[in-house]
Amino acid sequence: MAGTVLITGGTGYIGSFTSLELLDAGYDVIIVDNLYNSSEEVLNRIQLICGKRPKFYNVDVTDEEGLDRVFKKHPEIDSVIHFAALKSVGESTEKPVEYYRVNVGGTIALLGAMEKNNVKNIVFSSSATVYGDATKHENMIPIPEHCPIGPTNPYGRTKMMIEMVIQDHVESHPGWNGALLRYFNPAGAHPSGIMGEDPQGVPYNLLPLLGQVAVGRREKLMVYGTDYASHDGTAIRDYIHVIDLAKGHIAALAKLHNDNPGCRAWNLGTGKGSTVLDMVKAFSKVVGRDLPYQVAERRKGDVLDLTAMPTRANIELGWKAKMTLEEACKDLWKWVLNNPQGYRQSPPQELLDA
Ligand code: NAD
Ligand code: WQD
Repeated sequence: MAGTVLITGGTGYIGSFTSLELLDAGYDVIIVDNLYNSSEEVLNRIQLICGKRPKFYNVDVTDEEGLDRVFKKHPEIDSVIHFAALKSVGESTEKPVEYYRVNVGGTIALLGAMEKNNVKNIVFSSSATVYGDATKHENMIPIPEHCPIGPTNPYGRTKMMIEMVIQDHVESHPGWNGALLRYFNPAGAHPSGIMGEDPQGVPYNLLPLLGQVAVGRREKLMVYGTDYASHDGTAIRDYIHVIDLAKGHIAALAKLHNDNPGCRAWNLGTGKGSTVLDMVKAFSKVVGRDLPYQVAERRKGDVLDLTAMPTRANIELGWKAKMTLEEACKDLWKWVLNNPQGYRQSPPQELLDA
């Protein structure tokens, strides 16, 4: 089943990989993004890899009229994948209203434009962060979708609210379907070294920071907390290769079209937890030297363990994460080594010739 998909936030990290996978699978892709945290160069990279170029509109997701114009121009759009959002947990504690405005407000504008144009399938980028601290509940690690939700920061609360808005909208509108995809920790890049994560400011997440340490843009990694109840004292996360994550969206779209499931949440993770120091070791191995780090206090709002129980997605979506942590580290290394300035430079000729 292929069709035409509108992707909000499609020039961002996960959106770009999902666009690529969709094009490869025969879908047509139309991206709207205001380039707040991404660059149009991504479109060239997608084209370099798969020979097809998504259509692109510079539209703010909170601008319902702007979105409406895109839907009117492309009546062939049959589904939406909604990535556009602000995503820095730390920043969300400083500017919570801006996070609610863009994330929650943007989703409401999008649903309005979809409704006007009779588009009824939405796949939404939710996050494992909606679970908050799952270790405080009994037997909830690895985390199943029925684990009580309780995010610990404004960013996470925007995701929880959006889930509720979509759920209520789908329930009150027959024929609509919503996939709430709760991502665990995306990692890695394209194995060609041509596409990867290119955060515009100071990264917040572990892997882009490790990448910057490896290329010398940063002196060392700060390891936040060594007094957690894990094998080495550092916190546990479920790192999933971004290509596996992207494929999960295609499986979810197919589910919405084939089975009309209404609104449903699915975890997208591997089911395997790794500590911060496991990641430092895995990445150091690929880079070929020990990456420097310094132990620091726990980061505010962090939790001990976010490891997915991915069984529901495995069974219902027929999707499973297949790529290894080593592949994620290798691909990340190839990306940062060849694109130290991210998308602000052309990729080296040898990658293009490969
Ligand atoms: P990203 O910042 O790379 O991509 C988000 C995209 O949205 C960017 O291209 C940005 O320019 C765009 N955007 C932001 N505000 C916009 C606006 N007002 N109008 C239009 N476009 C706007 O982030 P990502 O890592 O690719 O994340 C994609 C989605 O997945 C987000 O919703 C994020 O919250 C969610 N998510 C990410 C992670 C993660 O660790 N990366 C984990 C769980 C969930
Ligand atoms: C992973 C581990 C840190 C940086 C966040 C959001 C979540 C989702 C993914 C977005 C933690 C440790 C990190 C550093 C460190 N985001 N760490 N030194 O916190 O699991 O999840 O990003 O949509 O919603 O909450 O990911 O990569 O920031 O951290 O020691 O410099 O690495 O403490 O244990 P996290 P992360």
